[in-house]
Amino acid sequence: MCSCNLFRSIFTLIIFLSSLLEITRGDTVTQPSISTLVKESQNITIHCKYDIAAGYTPNLFWYIQDPDQDPQLILSEHSREDIPPRFQNRFSASHNKTEKIFHLNITAAVLSDSATYFCALSPIL
Ligand SMILES: *[C@@H]1O[C@H](CO)[C@@H](O)[C@H](O)[C@H]1NC(C)=O
Ligand SMILES: *[C@@H]1O[C@H](CO)[C@@H](O)[C@H](O)[C@H]1NC(C)=O
Ligand SMILES: *[C@@H]1O[C@H](CO)[C@@H](O)[C@H](O)[C@H]1NC(C)=O
Repeated sequence: MCSCNLFRSIFTLIIFLSSLLEITRGDTVTQPSISTLVKESQNITIHCKYDIAAGYTPNLFWYIQDPDQDPQLILSEHSREDIPPRFQNRFSASHNKTEKIFHLNITAAVLSDSATYFCALSPIL
């Protein structure tokens, strides 16, 4: 008898992605509306592409929502302050203004990274 499948599933995390978070003034951030299965210790990139009204600069954020919890800030583009220790080392994102992307990278995934992830945008004049 082989319990390989059960064994594997213990080391698999599920990343739920929000489908679309609509912000004011027609600004949008788009994420794939899919759940992704990744293995523990893998690196993950969660995609975020945005659009913004002309004349505004985006301030970009990543939030995590654990089951039955409120969304929690992982990081913001312009500030590394007040970031919980849980997110200080393995989470990063860099803004490509040409491509209008702000992908979130997670290195060496752990089981507790299983959650819903939201990319958010706040327009600055
Ligand atoms: C994950 O990313 C880290 C940091 O960039 C790198 O050192 C490591 O080799 C990567 N691991 C895999 C499995 O790609
Ligand atoms: C995120 O990961 C991608 C693919 O491995 C890499 O090209 C990119 O430089 C990484 N970005 C950050 C901010 O670590
Ligand atoms: C942004 O993406 C463009 C097109 O892929 C690329 O040429 C450029 O080097 C990227 N900029 C940064 C800062 O990564």
